[in-house]
Amino acid sequence: MNDMQFTERAVDQKAIKIAAEGVNVHYGEAHAIKDVNVEIEENTVTAFIGPSGCGKSTFLRCLNRMNDTIDICNVTGQINLDGEDIYDKRVDPVQLRAKVGMVFQKPNPFPKSIYDNVAYGPRIHGLAKNKAELDEIVEKALRRGAIWDEVKDRLDKPGTGLSGGQQQRLCIARAVATEPEVLLMDEPCSALDPIATAQVEELIDELRERYSVVIVTHSMQQAARVSQKTAFFHLGTLVEFGLTSQIFTNPEDPRTESYITGRIG
Ligand SMILES: Nc1ncnc2c1ncn2[C@@H]1O[C@H](COP(=O)(O)OP(=O)(O)OP(=O)(O)O)[C@@H](O)[C@H]1O
Ligand SMILES: [Mg+2]
Repeated sequence: MNDMQFTERAVDQKAIKIAAEGVNVHYGEAHAIKDVNVEIEENTVTAFIGPSGCGKSTFLRCLNRMNDTIDICNVTGQINLDGEDIYDKRVDPVQLRAKVGMVFQKPNPFPKSIYDNVAYGPRIHGLAKNKAELDEIVEKALRRGAIWDEVKDRLDKPGTGLSGGQQQRLCIARAVATEPEVLLMDEPCSALDPIATAQVEELIDELRERYSVVIVTHSMQQAARVSQKTAFFHLGTLVEFGLTSQIFTNPEDPRTESYITGRIG
């Protein structure tokens, strides 16, 4: 693992943004997530790693109640965002997902203009009083998505006409337009080439100044480059969670070691 570079700088304790306790997920009879406890810190990139089918996406979707949309999926346990239970009956999942945004594996721009892709969330959440304010929100989000310069002269063109890497940055801009506090990313670079991947990774590092970022990745190099904390999942359990540098250089559990050295996966 000598080619690993770690982004972690000072090892300082950050505030807890999301606390998950005793989380279990079933799809019908199948037990996909088994008693997971984890704390996601503010201004930190947390990587979820582990072999295919171990439950990374399932657990990620628990954090903004995206599993609510899957009929046979049943989530139990406690997940708090800033100390408030996100599964409380009074919580509106649509509002929650504005606070806990999500970027998917495949760039999925809406079949609308670049402008309308980004303006969509702010419009439904009533974040702008007029067109000028909306223009400002859209520009700011596209800048944060590191794509403004490439699209500023074609805002009225379809988002689907952009390259894959541009589409993914557009989707990130769309996710940050509602001023989320947490950004969940499920393999956001798997459809991108190395140049676009590098751009998105750089962006993730910038995003952590304002947000908590949770990223699912199959690339150990990527986890090492972009995250400060790493959670290793195996067969539905969270085997090990800690500083990325520690997980990759000195894992405590033999299953973690086998995975990072390429013996399982
Ligand atoms: N919608 C669903 N209905 C039924 N079972 C599901 C569903 N989604 C996931 N599962 C099952 O839950 C388990 C965990 O799947 P999940 O997609 O969370 O894994 P993953 O770690 O994200 O895998 P990958 O790395 O391949 O994306 C698997 O056994 C999977 O088959
Ligand atoms: Mg997955």
